[in-house]
Amino acid sequence: MALIIMLSRRQVVCILIICCSVFHNTYGRSDPSFRVKAVNLGGWLLTEGWIKPSLFDGIVNRDFMDGAGLQFKSVTVGKYLSAELGGGNIIVANRTSASGWETFAVWRINETSYQLRVFNKQFVGVDTDANNVVSATTVVPGDSQTFQIVRNSDDANRVKIKAPNGFFLQVRREEIVTADYDGESGWGDSNPSVFVVNSIRGGQGEFQVTNGYGPRAAQVMKEHWTTFITEEDFKFISENGLNAVRIPVGWWIASDPTPPKPYIGGSLAALDNAFMWAKKYRLLVIVDLHAAPGSQNGNEHSASRDGSLEWGKTESTIQQTLDVIDFLSARYAKDPSFYAIELLNEPTAPGVSLDTVTKYYRDGHQVVRKHSSTTFVIMCNRLSADNTELLSLGSSLDRVVIDVHYYNLYADYFDRMTVQQHIDYVNNNRSAELSTVTTSNGPLTLVGEWVNEWGVSGATKEDYQRFGSAQLALYGRATFGWAYWTYKNVNQHWSLEWMIKNGYIKI
Ligand SMILES: *[C@@H]1O[C@H](CO)[C@@H](O)[C@H](O)[C@H]1NC(C)=O
Ligand SMILES: *[C@@H]1O[C@H](CO)[C@@H](O)[C@H](O)[C@H]1NC(C)=O
Ligand SMILES: *[C@@H]1O[C@H](CO)[C@@H](O)[C@H](O)[C@H]1NC(C)=O
Repeated sequence: MALIIMLSRRQVVCILIICCSVFHNTYGRSDPSFRVKAVNLGGWLLTEGWIKPSLFDGIVNRDFMDGAGLQFKSVTVGKYLSAELGGGNIIVANRTSASGWETFAVWRINETSYQLRVFNKQFVGVDTDANNVVSATTVVPGDSQTFQIVRNSDDANRVKIKAPNGFFLQVRREEIVTADYDGESGWGDSNPSVFVVNSIRGGQGEFQVTNGYGPRAAQVMKEHWTTFITEEDFKFISENGLNAVRIPVGWWIASDPTPPKPYIGGSLAALDNAFMWAKKYRLLVIVDLHAAPGSQNGNEHSASRDGSLEWGKTESTIQQTLDVIDFLSARYAKDPSFYAIELLNEPTAPGVSLDTVTKYYRDGHQVVRKHSSTTFVIMCNRLSADNTELLSLGSSLDRVVIDVHYYNLYADYFDRMTVQQHIDYVNNNRSAELSTVTTSNGPLTLVGEWVNEWGVSGATKEDYQRFGSAQLALYGRATFGWAYWTYKNVNQHWSLEWMIKNGYIKI
């Protein structure tokens, strides 16, 4: 106070400007040496079962969620149901082992009723005009493709499958499966309508959790959104050397509060809260469209229903995605924390072509620019594609960031590496990789996902610290910055909160 009194009015203005620019620098808009040091808020507004498995605990018939693969072994003939030729044909029961044609993907209607999708993507139905023969010929399922799966209360793996005509499926002979059994003769090995079911776990994402809970989903999700990440977490993040959060969201957030079924309204209000807390604790926000309509990679984290990748195969999925970008950019354009928007996380080659993603990114950039001239536009490299393939596009547009994800996982050679080999890999191979995508006049680079985890068993805390330091040193060279995957996770090393609290990582 005393100091200011002695200054002229012009000097006061100067000091204010300096203060403002310091504030701005910590907010990252103007200083070219500024780097994002972010953490992903994975599993919050977009469910990933492995991050918080307990979210699924209350689901009835959890092994029959959307995308689970069911295999049915007839107790009378001892062989598996199979979609002959993979689909478009009859269902038979003559396979001694189960693989693709013998696996039926669940589309869940509710906790008792299901549709079953075969290898070539048709649905199982009953031909009531032809002796109730069971076949898989319909591409768009309806009531005639909806079956009730009835479990034996003494042995949950024994099931009967009730067809829409009111009768149970039965195996008459290995080549003849019909829906005409009245089902009143117990659960023994001589009952041709009894099957032993084996469920192969599918993705556990937003579609599975919301559709799995059905009418209870709204309550469960709202509870999750308000407890999994809170204001305290933003405080912790800001106090531990980080300056930003990357927040994965799903496309349905744009139709909040009434998104299409089975999605639940309310994630938008949670994102609004995130912006409010970000402002309070001086954090930047990267909004990351992690799940696009139809799914851009078939994984649970893009909310695929059954592992299929449909994004980009029709113009409408792309237009719908641009509308989501439009909505999010418009909503947050004036918010001082809104630093960047990622147009699409991890589209996967070859399911998503380079042409499709390039055109979408170009259009998406334009959509963002309608609302903001400063927001960075992040373009994620396609998985399993050349990491330089977006460089020319990125160079032709302003304030573009290329996102690359670096995990020392998901390949056999990583599983065989020692601690030192992992560290060398980061220092040499990753370093070379990052250099090829970080060009002087090209787009900025973001290591938008990495984790201090590996396949080394018995690694010590010091090993983790060395690995973490090597990764931090390298990713600090990315010209936009980096983001750890993820903030909270039941798997300790995948939780940056846990890693910081336990001294495994220091930012
Ligand atoms: C489940 O769906 C089926 C088919 O639409 C319907 O007949 C049945 O009443 C539903 N059951 C429950 C518990 O909602
Ligand atoms: C199963 O039955 C179908 C239909 O009769 C037949 O085409 C197929 O060859 C049989 N497969 C085996 C393994 O017996
Ligand atoms: C890492 O780089 C070295 C040196 O270029 C190379 O010999 C090695 O094969 C690379 N490792 C992997 C797993 O690609």
